[in-house]
Amino acid sequence: MSALQGKSIVVTAGPTIEPIDPVRFLSNRSSGKQGYLIAEALAAGGANVRLISGPTCLPCPNGVERIDVETALDMLAAVETALPADAFIAVAAVADWRPASKQARKAEKAAQGASLDLVENPDILATIAQRENDRPALVIGFAAETHDMLDRARAKRLRKGCDWIIANDVSGDVMGGDENAAWLIGQTHETEWKRAPKKTIAENLAAAMDAHFSSR
Ligand code: C5P
Repeated sequence: MSALQGKSIVVTAGPTIEPIDPVRFLSNRSSGKQGYLIAEALAAGGANVRLISGPTCLPCPNGVERIDVETALDMLAAVETALPADAFIAVAAVADWRPASKQARKAEKAAQGASLDLVENPDILATIAQRENDRPALVIGFAAETHDMLDRARAKRLRKGCDWIIANDVSGDVMGGDENAAWLIGQTHETEWKRAPKKTIAENLAAAMDAHFSSR
């Protein structure tokens, strides 16, 4: 039997959107595909998966409970509400910044141009990885890099305090595409996953988690 059976796993996926006014927002190009496929692969292994998702065009994967959010603050609150869990996987491309205030009315065009005050969003992965009570036993982050991928990902794992980090090179067509290549970086082991459909990368991660839980 899979060691994932009955494990409670929280996954974030997709972008967040950060409103400027009722019609405009800041966001990014994340499609949510990789996170949704990870949620699906874990559910197929018997895990109880809650997928906390920013806006995407994707259907909810089979056997997964999806909780829809828009902003980074809402995503963090939804993750905290979903704890305790056996594992947390941060796949979402969380917007690093949000407008300092949301205007209640649609902003007018200004003759002098416009500027936007931004404030930093909380780092959801680091917040959960560094929780004193009810920290999930296995906390996994992603490192999307365009250069010095492995060194930057190793440093990111330590800085955020997560157990594993999945490093991927996004300088090509990965964002929004159907394929990915990645490294799984842990404290004592590093494994390369060659370029493959995102579904295969998701299955590789589910298999690594299965092996991790069965060895405990
Ligand atoms: O620092 P960077 O954005 O490169 O880190 C990426 C990892 O951190 C991903 O796992 C992403 O889901 C997570 N993250 C987060 N909250 C943020 C920024 C990133 O959970 N505000």
